[in-house]
Amino acid sequence: MKKEDLDFFHSWFRNYVKPYYTGNDDVKLNLRLKEEHIHRVCRSIVELGKDLGLVEYKLQTAEIIALFHDIGRFEQLRRYKTLNDRCSINHAELSVEVVKETNVLERLEEEERAVILKSIRYHNAYKLPENELPDFLLYTKLLRDADKIDIWFIVADYYEKRQLHPNTALEFDLPDEPDCSSAIIDDIMNCRCTCRADIKTYNDMKLFQLSWIFDINFPASFHYIQEHNYIDKIINTLPDTSGVKKVRNHLNSYIDRNIKDNHTSRVLR
Ligand SMILES: [Fe+2]
Repeated sequence: MKKEDLDFFHSWFRNYVKPYYTGNDDVKLNLRLKEEHIHRVCRSIVELGKDLGLVEYKLQTAEIIALFHDIGRFEQLRRYKTLNDRCSINHAELSVEVVKETNVLERLEEEERAVILKSIRYHNAYKLPENELPDFLLYTKLLRDADKIDIWFIVADYYEKRQLHPNTALEFDLPDEPDCSSAIIDDIMNCRCTCRADIKTYNDMKLFQLSWIFDINFPASFHYIQEHNYIDKIINTLPDTSGVKKVRNHLNSYIDRNIKDNHTSRVLR
């Protein structure tokens, strides 16, 4: 991978998405939301990679993975008019399909293509497979962190200002009821990511997104999350129940602990 490959992929991507901008304003808004998300994930995956001291070649590969990780979203919106995988298609698999069908990675070596496609495929999986090649695990973990950080950025702002511009695509048609599922609260209190299938209400969706903290991999991600206060911002839009209070304390101390542990291990190194 060379710098000119990176430029080629970015310009290819810009041309790929252009024809999708048809239809009503809501569709265009969600296309733009996804396109901007992809570009921010590209920037943040590079930042996380730099914090790990990755060499230029690996930073470029990570950036390409980020650039194509959600490319299937455009086709998903066109075909199914939704971003909800549960009632359409797994968008990570669709992204792999688009990358393969368009042959966009043709100029790369077979080995590079394989790791890029596999990282895209697993970016939204509940769990990563074990005993895999270190490069695949590194890129996929970087992508999963960068992706989650940006989704928190989007939803924290959206939940705060939702009354002004409701967007059904971000709410997945879930009922806006005051309930928070005790099974999801239980998952969080036991440091587990929640399964999508357990989401019953709009509040459950917020808790589900909060539970992603247990899948965060890198110290720089924890720092970024704390600095931007995403967790508290999302929790502030949940009902002020004792369960939610417990969740707030638990998540904040989990983040503190991860930051402190990393600081200690850096000092000891
Ligand atoms: Fe995605």
